[in-house]
Amino acid sequence: MEEQRHIEGERLQKVLAEAGIASRRGAEELIRQGRVSVNGQNVTALGTRVGPDDEVCVDGQPVDRDIGPVYIVLHKPRGYISTVRDTHGRPSVLGLVPVKTRLFPMGRLDADSEGLILLTNDGGLGYQLTHPRHAIPKEYLVLVEGNPTDETLERLRYGVWLEEGPTAAAEVSRAVTGGEGVWLRIAIREGRKRQVRRMLAAVGHPVRRLVRTGIGPLKLGALPVGKWRFLKGTELAELRGAATEAAVPLVIAIDGPAASGKSALGQALAARLGWLHFDTGMLYRALTVLAHRRGIDVHDEDSVAELAHQARVSLVRPGNRTGASARVVVDGEDVTDELYTQAVDADVSAVAANEEVRRALLPRQRDIANQGRMIVVGRDIGTVVLPGAPLKVYLDASAEVRAMRRQQQFEANGQVVDREDLLADLRRRDRYDRERPNAPLAVADDAVVLHTDRMTLEEEVEVVMKLAKERFPALALGAPRRGG
Ligand code: CDP
Ligand code: CDP
Repeated sequence: MEEQRHIEGERLQKVLAEAGIASRRGAEELIRQGRVSVNGQNVTALGTRVGPDDEVCVDGQPVDRDIGPVYIVLHKPRGYISTVRDTHGRPSVLGLVPVKTRLFPMGRLDADSEGLILLTNDGGLGYQLTHPRHAIPKEYLVLVEGNPTDETLERLRYGVWLEEGPTAAAEVSRAVTGGEGVWLRIAIREGRKRQVRRMLAAVGHPVRRLVRTGIGPLKLGALPVGKWRFLKGTELAELRGAATEAAVPLVIAIDGPAASGKSALGQALAARLGWLHFDTGMLYRALTVLAHRRGIDVHDEDSVAELAHQARVSLVRPGNRTGASARVVVDGEDVTDELYTQAVDADVSAVAANEEVRRALLPRQRDIANQGRMIVVGRDIGTVVLPGAPLKVYLDASAEVRAMRRQQQFEANGQVVDREDLLADLRRRDRYDRERPNAPLAVADDAVVLHTDRMTLEEEVEVVMKLAKERFPALALGAPRRGG
């Protein structure tokens, strides 16, 4: 084959298509119209072959046959594989495009999946778009068996437990339904193997059809099945922009002692930014609730460690709304309303001091925070969980002021508590948090420290918003989230 091509040259329309001038059909049209010449001679015969040294012109302009980066958008049909070779002899998507440089898909699609696939020879962009740490969201239309309840959609949103661990949160909604059955629209950032199929199987609604409709800002649109087109310059710029934005973690870390106002500030900022408030203390509190329920002594380190490793603690995004606080689900049960009692307050620091507890919760927190657009609140967020956070705030306040604030909080909930008890409890928890060997409460080197004894919450918010504008210059802060 290779030999023959050198002797006979390549068909002109193929040369034009490979050079990115037009599709094969489009190139044939150009030839028929008499707009193509070879070595100065007009050519209208479609079968004409040209060698590597022949000069090919379109409309008198020489065609550059040394192809630079090529980006192709393809509507992959079912049954095609997205890699080059297949042991089962199935056709490859590469056979659907005329460009012969070494193209590879940016993010594969299974053979039985359809839809948007990007093919390129540009390894740099491929890496940017598919690297899990700055992956941009991919959107799918999914035809499922049965009719999932709202509760099931909620489970898909906050993460489904797969073999290798829980999935990160997804955006899930019902799509307009055709005759075939129920279609869902799902956007995820991770790209684990057959993730969408496995997520839906896990909630009892196996996938019947899976169509990728978007990769970040790029949409499949009306491109027919099996057809391809070149990526537009503007689309390439948008994709690059999205990948760059995804590479800067959109997180604000807030740490500080108990009752310093972290949650209040986190919630206020989340509302202002339209981000999610993720209070990591909820995870430690959830484990404490679980220990109480199972009658486990929180000082029994081994039992608590075992509990931490087997409990399925996950975070629930409150519907599709942003700017709100997440809820916590343990082994399928929402325990959010049990987290803030004096009994939990009394034991949570001991649970949090357990090394295995911290080891179990660390990857989970990072996974959640990696979704971005999040205010992450805790004790060790700036120092241990997200040391690369672009903006870190450490809130401090005197124990007396904190005890007073806590008392007011309890009273607002109709609970009567003694201020002296609260103060003693806060001091004890401070000591626990600061002195534990593992990820103790400490001020990160690059954190901004706010002493809030005499600050109002509004003042805190203004200070942090100002910093956020500096640290996230690419964001039009306060604007609604792109893409919904
Ligand atoms: O609201 P408060 O500050 O009292 O506590 P929280 O933020 O709900 O956290 C509960 C407990 O979990 C804290 O007292 C810490 O001991 C622990 N924790 C931690 O060790 N590391 C975190 N990142 C968050 C909480
Ligand atoms: O999350 P953390 O335990 O650090 O404290 P919080 O529950 O957010 O805050 C304790 C209470 O202090 C809340 O009722 C706040 O509204 C209040 N507060 C504050 O956070 N910041 C101020 N500057 C003044 C009061």
